[in-house]
Formats: sequence, structure tokens, C-alpha cells
Amino acid sequence: MSRVHVINHPLVQHKLTIIRNKSTGPKEFRELVKEVSLLMAYEVTRDLPLEESEVETPICKTKGLTIAGKKIGVIPILRAGLGMVEGILELIPTAKVGHIGLYRDPDSLEPVEYYCKLPDDSHERDFIIIDPMLATGGSAAAAVKYVKNIGCSGIKLMCLLAAPEGVARMEKSHPDVDVYVAAIDEKLNSHGYIIPGLGDAGDRLFGTK
Ligand code: PRP
Ligand code: URA
Repeated sequence: MSRVHVINHPLVQHKLTIIRNKSTGPKEFRELVKEVSLLMAYEVTRDLPLEESEVETPICKTKGLTIAGKKIGVIPILRAGLGMVEGILELIPTAKVGHIGLYRDPDSLEPVEYYCKLPDDSHERDFIIIDPMLATGGSAAAAVKYVKNIGCSGIKLMCLLAAPEGVARMEKSHPDVDVYVAAIDEKLNSHGYIIPGLGDAGDRLFGTK
């Protein structure tokens, strides 16, 4: 069964189209990335386990449902993943946030690690790794490997846009990881950029170019 999920909710697709537009400036880009991340997180967390718990309404005692199972952690891949953190935290305010710093070598397109800080209690958590772009898949695959190496197994990956190449790499390297995207685009260009894509996510979020 495929572990790749395309979230085709109309609100996500509408906002994604504005994100893609080259005329959308950093302020609106940031706001929309945050909103889409929140909406996607709603779907990504759809299978969280629930348990019965008692609650007293103003009228009487009754049974309700609350989230059970492992606590959640969110790991943005620096730097563009940072743009997705706030939206998820609005939905899951108790999530702890780890950071994995990777940049793509512009020639080899291989990820280079430069920073990592995860919560002390990571082994007790399930993680959602976030990055707007799944291009060659090298960065996401490296981040998942890092998190697996510290003993975590409940890992999901959430990206706005993917290239078929990145999806294939994740399926091959980490077939046990669910991958959530808002769209799978056509292909990569010779510089490893997603076509049609949205350009450089980090630069558009932070206005660096
Ligand atoms: C971008 C993006 C991903 C990576 C995707 O980051 O945010 O992390 O490229 O490419 P891949 O799937 O081929 O690995 P970039 O390396 O440009 O760093 P930045 O976020 O600091 O701009
Ligand atoms: N990183 C980006 O920011 N954009 C792409 O299209 C590919 C990698």
C-alpha cells in the first residue's frame, strides 16, 4: 500500500496556488505556508489514537475522547522547514520542536548537515518532519535516517511540494514512513529544482534573494 498521501483539500490547493505565484511576496508567502501547514497537519494527525476520558459538563458527567499514545514532536529541516512550524504548533501546542540543519550542496545536490538539536525525551515521541520541498529527497531521507538512528520509529514526513524523484527516494530509503504532500509536480530541472514548483522556498520565506 502506498505511503504517499496527497492532501487535495480545496483550501490547501487554493492556498498552494497563491504560494506558487511568483508575485506573492515574503509576508503573504509566510502567512500562507503557515496556514497550509496547519490544514495539512489536520490530515497528518487523522490517525492519532484516542482513549475514553471522563469529563464533567455544566450539566452532568459524561465520557469524552482524548488523544492517547506517544507525545508528538515536530522537526523542521532548516531553514525552510521553519516556515511550517507555527501552523502545526497552533494545532498541537504541546508538541516539542527539534531542529535539523541541512543544506543542499549546489553541485552534488547531496545534503550537508550543520546543526541538530532534538528534545531530550525524543525516544518517547512520534515525530513529524517538515520541509516545504521534497526535491531529490536527499535532505528528507537524511533527516529521517538521523531520527531513526536515535531510536525513534514513529516518523511522518510532511512537505508542501514533491517531485516524483523525491517521492521515489523516500519510498526506496524509508518505505515505513508516511509522506504527506499537497502536490506531486512534474519533475526536477538540471539544478534539482521542482518544476513547476514554487522556486526556492527558503529564499521566498525569508526574502534572501
Ligand atoms: C531546500 C528545501 C529542502 C531541500 C530539498 O533546502 O527546503 O530542505 O532543499 O531538496 P532535496 O530534496 O533535493 O534535498 P536548501 O538546501 O535550499 O536549504 P535552505 O532551506 O536553507 O534554503
Ligand atoms: N529547494 C527549493 O527550495 N526549491 C526546489 O524547487 C528544490 C529544492
